[in-house]
Amino acid sequence: MTGRLLIVHGPNLNLLGTREPAIYGPATLEDANEVCRAAADAADFAVDIVQSNHEGALVDAIQAAQGTAEGIVINPAAYTHTSVAIADALAAVGLPLVEVHLSNVHAREPFRSHSYVSPHASAVIAGAGIQGYRFAVEHLTALLRD
Ligand code: DQA
Repeated sequence: MTGRLLIVHGPNLNLLGTREPAIYGPATLEDANEVCRAAADAADFAVDIVQSNHEGALVDAIQAAQGTAEGIVINPAAYTHTSVAIADALAAVGLPLVEVHLSNVHAREPFRSHSYVSPHASAVIAGAGIQGYRFAVEHLTALLRD
């Protein structure tokens, strides 16, 4: 393995598969994680995967990535639109970052168009369902390789 990525899933993403499938699709969180593992494996990267419904636990996981991971893929879920703490943690560790949303947040309620995380991301992928995680891992591993 040439490197290691941290994949971070925010609140309510543990419910994927049953949660509002018309918006988020039928795939489960484990399906999304499998997409991440396969894309990372193809690029010779390993992944650590964290999901939490708690803001502080997500901050702790991001901080812990310093020294263990070379890049981060994050779907901050609802914390995208509210969390200065998560944005600050991402800025503090300063690792290459890709932000993912399953749904097209820009086609939904106006409050979902604002992200505290996007200014720290090298790419933002929204609306591609769980394939968005594949695009994110492919982009991040290419970025880290070049
Ligand atoms: C989400 C979009 C957010 O607005 C929402 O709060 C989520 C999931 C997405 O993946 O589309 O929980 O991040």
